[in-house]
Amino acid sequence: MRVANRVKHIELSGIRKMFEMADKDSIMLGLGEPDFQPPQHAIDAFKKALDDGHNKYGSTMGLVELREALAERLHRWRDDVEMKNILVTVSATEGLMTACQGLFEGGHEVLIPDPGFVLYEPHVRLAGAKPVRYSLRHENDFLPEQEELQSLINPSTRGIIVNSPSNPTGAVFPEDEIRMISDLANDSHLVVISDEVYDEVVYEQPHRSFLGTLEEHVYVNSFSKTYAMTGWRLGYMAASEELIRELSKFSYYTIACPPSPTQYAALAALTGPQDQVREMKEKFRERRNAVVSELSSIPGFTCVKPEGAFYAFPNFSFDMSSNSMAMELMKGGVISTPGSAFGPLGEGHIRFSYANSLENIQKGMERVRMVAERLEGLGGECSNG
Ligand SMILES: Cc1ncc(COP(=O)(O)O)c(C=O)c1O
Repeated sequence: MRVANRVKHIELSGIRKMFEMADKDSIMLGLGEPDFQPPQHAIDAFKKALDDGHNKYGSTMGLVELREALAERLHRWRDDVEMKNILVTVSATEGLMTACQGLFEGGHEVLIPDPGFVLYEPHVRLAGAKPVRYSLRHENDFLPEQEELQSLINPSTRGIIVNSPSNPTGAVFPEDEIRMISDLANDSHLVVISDEVYDEVVYEQPHRSFLGTLEEHVYVNSFSKTYAMTGWRLGYMAASEELIRELSKFSYYTIACPPSPTQYAALAALTGPQDQVREMKEKFRERRNAVVSELSSIPGFTCVKPEGAFYAFPNFSFDMSSNSMAMELMKGGVISTPGSAFGPLGEGHIRFSYANSLENIQKGMERVRMVAERLEGLGGECSNG
């Protein structure tokens, strides 16, 4: 089969591979989506939109009322955001792709996190640019380091992609980290793409946004995680009016417009009661505490306490690749994601998603313990308790 090199050289995501191998008795700690349903008022608004005849093409930029409500939401971080700064997208996935296509091209280098979410590298490559990884090290609580970032910037560097709260590490960037990255980007004339899809899932410190501190910036967010509507595929981005106008051209030729009924549902979710968002976060907090507490006593595993999103990213000291470890865990009845799916520095780590019931998480962690004890018994190298 003859396909373009552009596609041929893109790998299937490691997250999907494990998912496809799961059997029905496996405990799923592999997937990055809330195990809740969208708020009932959003479901009702979706049905009503269908009945009211909102089944046609709409504006490429998105529904006016939704863009106004989104601008209003972003005032918590930057008070001059207006509707003209907002583009509604078909998910953060499409938003990130549009941002990369609109900003990068051959000859550009783009800094991406390692480990980092699986989209960034292919999106940069598909734009013809070269991804250059910056480290998020376990020993540094998975935060970027100024010296390294500085050393990676050269005249070809055009942008940096940042993600806080982070998938897969669960790290949340504190204020001084946001400031450091923003200053570096402003000084070196880099555009920042900030992926902030987990902004409502933070446990200790408040979410701090890159909005407001940057000269060149594309802010990307989504309804997927906040309102548990991953299957509805809706997101948004914010940037300068000029950039939004440019990016919307790419959107027009890819999607024509975001889906109409989904936008009414998202509007209801955004402007209606937010109790479910808070309840979901408290459930995630409880599960996070359970995972971290269990992992702290499983031989060979060490976990930095995640402060956001719904992932734990422990490292392990057994002498095997993260792929082999994920296979061992799968044989033991737990689906996880090998750290290497997120970049070379993810090697030696496993990502557990705790978007599953507390009962399943506890059962899953018991299975992880059994696998670890067996590996330890086989003489696999292992140093901690
Ligand atoms: C960090 C991050 N960004 C973006 C996305 C994509 O979200 P969406 O469902 O809006 O495409 C995900 C989904 O897992 C994610 O974890």
